[in-house]
Amino acid sequence: MALEPIGAVNALYPSLTVIVGARVRGKANWMTVAHLGVMNHAMGNIPQYLGISAHPSHYTNIGIREHGEFSINIPSRAMLEVTDYVGIVSGKTTNKSDVFPILEGELPNAPMIATCPVAMQCRVAQKVIVGEHELFIGELVATYAQPEVLVDGKIDLVRVDPILFDFRQMAYHALGERIGKPWNAGKALKEQRKNPQSAA
Ligand SMILES: Cc1cc2nc3c(=O)[nH]c(=O)nc-3n(C[C@H](O)[C@H](O)[C@H](O)COP(=O)(O)O)c2cc1C
Repeated sequence: MALEPIGAVNALYPSLTVIVGARVRGKANWMTVAHLGVMNHAMGNIPQYLGISAHPSHYTNIGIREHGEFSINIPSRAMLEVTDYVGIVSGKTTNKSDVFPILEGELPNAPMIATCPVAMQCRVAQKVIVGEHELFIGELVATYAQPEVLVDGKIDLVRVDPILFDFRQMAYHALGERIGKPWNAGKALKEQRKNPQSAA
């Protein structure tokens, strides 16, 4: 087996499929987003930032630009059909405000989906134009979770049962099995390489 060049193909999939919420012209609007990420991770009291890449032609962007707020809702596999729906129909032509029951939180213009297992509210801290897209970097303000997805107070991915997105094969996937513990799976190798004699 050997690696062969296949062109500059973005192979950073799967990504998480989420539904971004915003208030546009007084009404909640929802759009599917799979190009998003963690901009930094929690360290003490430093704010946490999440980025979503949204094409400026989308109706949702109007609300995010106007109010500087958005929500990120994580649907479960059971919500696959409606998750895809809000990603193929635009608020420009169809009212999507009644598609989900709404949960209002700390930020009045970042409506959340009450039936998602997890939802977060973000306040826009920066907007960066990347290629043709608007990258909204939001400071995480609040997180909500259904009690059923928490184990010892922590979000359990297996219980969330998120939808993973693959742009290359145009496919949705479910989560695979748990295969190890981060910052731990490499420990034995670290010791072995520090002291190769001890492994013999
Ligand atoms: C699986 C999936 C993932 C998507 N990911 C993104 C994305 O990351 N960024 C984006 O701008 N649009 C993305 N879209 C497209 C928008 O969700 C879609 O154009 C939507 O209709 C926009 O709605 P709006 O005009 O009401 O805001 C995605 C669509 C699907 C189905």
